[in-house]
Parts: sequence; C-alpha cells; structure tokens
Amino acid sequence: MKALVSFVHSNEITQLAEIVKEELKKKNYSVTVTEVIKHKKKNKNKQIKLKSGVTNWKPFDLIVLGFPVIGISSSHLMNDYLKQCTNISGKQTAILVGCIGLHGNALKKASSIVSFHGGKVKDSLIISSFLGLNEKKIGQVKQFIQNL
Ligand SMILES: Cc1cc2nc3c(=O)[nH]c(=O)nc-3n(C[C@H](O)[C@H](O)[C@H](O)COP(=O)(O)O)c2cc1C
Repeated sequence: MKALVSFVHSNEITQLAEIVKEELKKKNYSVTVTEVIKHKKKNKNKQIKLKSGVTNWKPFDLIVLGFPVIGISSSHLMNDYLKQCTNISGKQTAILVGCIGLHGNALKKASSIVSFHGGKVKDSLIISSFLGLNEKKIGQVKQFIQNL
C-alpha cells in the first residue's frame, strides 16, 4: 500500500507531516512526503505554478493533506495544488488542518475540491497551533492516522 502526504508549510504542519509519515509506516504503508511550494513565476493561465508537490495521485492508495488555515479558509496554495492534481477520482483522502482557532470554511473548501474531482474524504482533523504542539495534540494526530 502506498500513501502520499502532501502538505503546505507552517511549523506545526511540517512537524505533523513527519509524525503522519511514521504512523503510516507503522500501518505498513510505503510513504512519500511532498511539500507543496509555489514557484515565483505564475503560469500563463494565472494558476499558481508549483515548484514542488506530487500532483499525480495514481500510484497512491491514500493521500493525507495537511495545511494551515489562512484568512479563515484553506490556504490558496493547497487549493491551487488540489486543482492541479490528477487521478483523484476514487482516491481515499484524509485532511489535517492547522489553525489558531478560526478555521472558517477551510475544511469544507479543501474537501469540496477533492469531492468535486471524485475523491473521497475519509476523515479530517483540525489541530490548534495555539501554544504549539504538545503530547496531547500529537497523540490526537497519531490516533487519527491509526483510525484511518
Ligand atoms: C497570513 C495568515 C493568516 C492566518 N489566518 C488564520 C485564520 O484565519 N484562522 C486561524 O485559525 N489561523 C490563521 N492563521 C494561523 C495559521 O493557520 C497557522 O496555525 C499558524 O500560522 C501556525 O504557524 P506555525 O505553526 O508556523 O507557528 C493564519 C496565519 C497566517 C500566517
């Protein structure tokens, strides 16, 4: 079984991506971790050009998405990344969102892009980055992955 962990950086989400990777490995997944990074130049069609991020989901059985909430919504970078991904149809995903407390429609927005392209959102978790990560929050994330 193959898993892809695609994330947009915040200190919290980057740390959690590593934890997610280790938990998935315990479940015998072979794991690819990819950080979605914006290229300085824009595409001609004004879509954000990606500098990095695996966009072909075909090889993967599970995709875990992680991103911070920006302006009470999912980060534009994650939204643009999702719009550029291919072979989403039928794929199982899980969404991990970091925020300081006001997540607004972040989860709904990202979930709707996945669903629109035929992907299935198995589960989601919102983690507060307020006062940083602690054992309790890390435990929640581990449990979240184990339950997938
Ligand atoms: C420009 C910007 C806008 C943000 N908007 C929100 C927001 O609307 N709601 C929220 O809960 N957190 C918001 N955050 C916090 C982030 O989601 C994230 O939790 C925080 O940046 C974590 O940073 P760190 O882990 O790198 O310390 C915002 C952060 C930035 C930088």
